Amino acid sequence: MAPIIKFLWAVLLLLLFGKGTSTCSTDKVTLTQGATGNLYLRKPEYNVTIHNGCTDCAVVDLSLLCPGFKTVEPIDPSVLQPSGDYCIVSRGRQIDAGVTFNFIYAWDSQYPFKIAHLGFKCAASPRLKGKGVARP
Ligand SMILES: *[C@@H]1O[C@H](CO)[C@@H](O)[C@H](O)[C@H]1NC(C)=O
Repeated sequence: MAPIIKFLWAVLLLLLFGKGTSTCSTDKVTLTQGATGNLYLRKPEYNVTIHNGCTDCAVVDLSLLCPGFKTVEPIDPSVLQPSGDYCIVSRGRQIDAGVTFNFIYAWDSQYPFKIAHLGFKCAASPRLKGKGVARP
């Protein structure tokens, strides 16, 4: 193999497996909530919004810390599934980059949800993927 080809291979591998691989950090995934202003069975409704602020990574296996969480307004288990002290979001399915996921509950007071666990599924190499391609 010509030295130049070897060199290009090294660069390519570095891009694929080195620092070229996209990453995201947990602080880019935010959970906010607020009262909707509506009542459900005479209890105030709250809207929880989880936003994936990553640019190249989907969030997977997301769960919230939610011991003692109660709601009079039923939540579809495919949206939020209580399991011990945790609530599994969207059955752990991926939430794409830039996407917002939300659910609504109703109780006497706002429940302090916290993100317990999440994983990232990132694009292999945004630099290569992005080459010569117009990206939004
Ligand atoms: C809940 O929040 C989402 C996203 O922030 C919003 O699109 C939706 O309209 C809200 N729903 C209610 C009932 O407030």
